[in-house]
Amino acid sequence: GGTAAHVAAQCRDLAQLRQAMEAFDALPLKRTAMSTVFADGNPDADIMCIGEAPGQEEDRQGLPFVGKSGKLLDRMLASIGLDRGSVYISNVVPWRPVDNRKPTADEVAVCLPFITRHIELVDPKLLILFGGAAASALLGRSEGINRLRGRWFDYSSPGLPRPVAVMPTFHPAYLLRTPAAKREAWRDLLAVRKRIDGHS
Ligand code: URA
Repeated sequence: GGTAAHVAAQCRDLAQLRQAMEAFDALPLKRTAMSTVFADGNPDADIMCIGEAPGQEEDRQGLPFVGKSGKLLDRMLASIGLDRGSVYISNVVPWRPVDNRKPTADEVAVCLPFITRHIELVDPKLLILFGGAAASALLGRSEGINRLRGRWFDYSSPGLPRPVAVMPTFHPAYLLRTPAAKREAWRDLLAVRKRIDGHS
């Protein structure tokens, strides 16, 4: 047992963190979920992508972004020459809300120590945050995603050697509902590509 903050702080590597999350029992969401959706992709990658919470397909497969939004995420990454071998992918909340609702502020708060420890253990050079849930949770800002996207932020944490560059952008699920917003998301991804290439 124990709070997520206490449990996460003890984890020295990703395997320990995964195990601790799988054993965590202080969140009702965990009891209805089939899987603890930990991560996918390359843990040694310079780029870490963070979404909101698993959906049904993610819960079934135990992997993030493998449903409809995931297909779009793959295309978004491919548009700037990236794939699951060159990024690492996780979520703010690792358990599926049964009804596919947004996780509540409390659920996000309970899970936050897990994702912040996750970021420390991966130690990426760049974070892409998909959607308002990830952006507000990790940047600690109250503006919505419309105000946050397309701007560079620094993410700092005591367990990281240096601040990490952060680009918040629209969530692929939002883009599926609002295709007109793909124009902005495309610009955000281009900014990421330029930064990887050292042009900004
Ligand atoms: N949406 C998310 O935010 N994460 C997933 O893993 C799948 C859909």
